[in-house]
Amino acid sequence: MTIFNITFKDLNKSFNQRLLFNIPELTIESGKCCLLSGINGSGKSTLLKILAGLENPNNAEVYYKNIKMSWKSACKQIHKNIIYLHQTPLMFDASVEDNIKYGMRKQGFSRDKIKTNTKNALQWADLEHLKNNNARMLSGGEKQRVALARAYVLSPKILLLDESFSNIDAQGRKQIAEQICKLKDEGIGIILTSHELSHTTSLAEHHMQLENNRLITSSNENNVTNFKNNFEPSSLLLVNA
Ligand SMILES: Nc1ncnc2c1ncn2[C@@H]1O[C@H](COP(=O)(O)OP(=O)(O)OP(=O)(O)O)[C@@H](O)[C@H]1O
Ligand SMILES: [Mg+2]
Repeated sequence: MTIFNITFKDLNKSFNQRLLFNIPELTIESGKCCLLSGINGSGKSTLLKILAGLENPNNAEVYYKNIKMSWKSACKQIHKNIIYLHQTPLMFDASVEDNIKYGMRKQGFSRDKIKTNTKNALQWADLEHLKNNNARMLSGGEKQRVALARAYVLSPKILLLDESFSNIDAQGRKQIAEQICKLKDEGIGIILTSHELSHTTSLAEHHMQLENNRLITSSNENNVTNFKNNFEPSSLLLVNA
């Protein structure tokens, strides 16, 4: 898989003249998994939506392949490579299979490719037994798995997962965690938000926290599984601060 990375500098966002965050520099890249935490209202969803080109920042310089781009040009690259999964995934009033096919049809994939990708994705996400069920009738955890499968078939370089573990029971969390591990193995970059650090820290090599309008980062590349035990707020580093 080709490496994809994109850098945002002087990224800031305000609502109604209230500063939400001001981030001197942030690079997101394929092949890495990062946990984004922060209290309710700290701006996690807003940041992910900006990184996915779904919401405009008040200011941002974007560098792709070391070239500075306008926000509009950057969004074209972003939309091709980065997918945001909503906190409560929207299911179309159709079967699980059709929900998975939707994005591929929209992007003009061939019929054969749609058929093959859908079959693989149903298997990948352990959804074969539910393929003919109406997706709106599924449980929260099953909907999250459909949302992941629906994104997976589009071969993104980076997935932004907003609270994929919230309101999901232990079995559902395990299944989603397994899917995220498979995505990581395939070199897909992941940023996931969560309030429950214990569910997600073992998946992530990096940790970012939105706090007091700043983004604070720490890394645990050498020992991912022990991240939970090693994590100490005092070890956090301010990015470029
Ligand atoms: N379109 C909008 N207009 C005005 N304010 C907004 C808008 N979208 C978000 N906000 C505000 O920005 C702040 C950050 O919202 P955001 O949803 O990004 O937080 P969050 O960290 O994802 O919270 P949570 O943990 O509850 O999901 C909140 O105070 C919210 O009310
Ligand atoms: Mg949110």
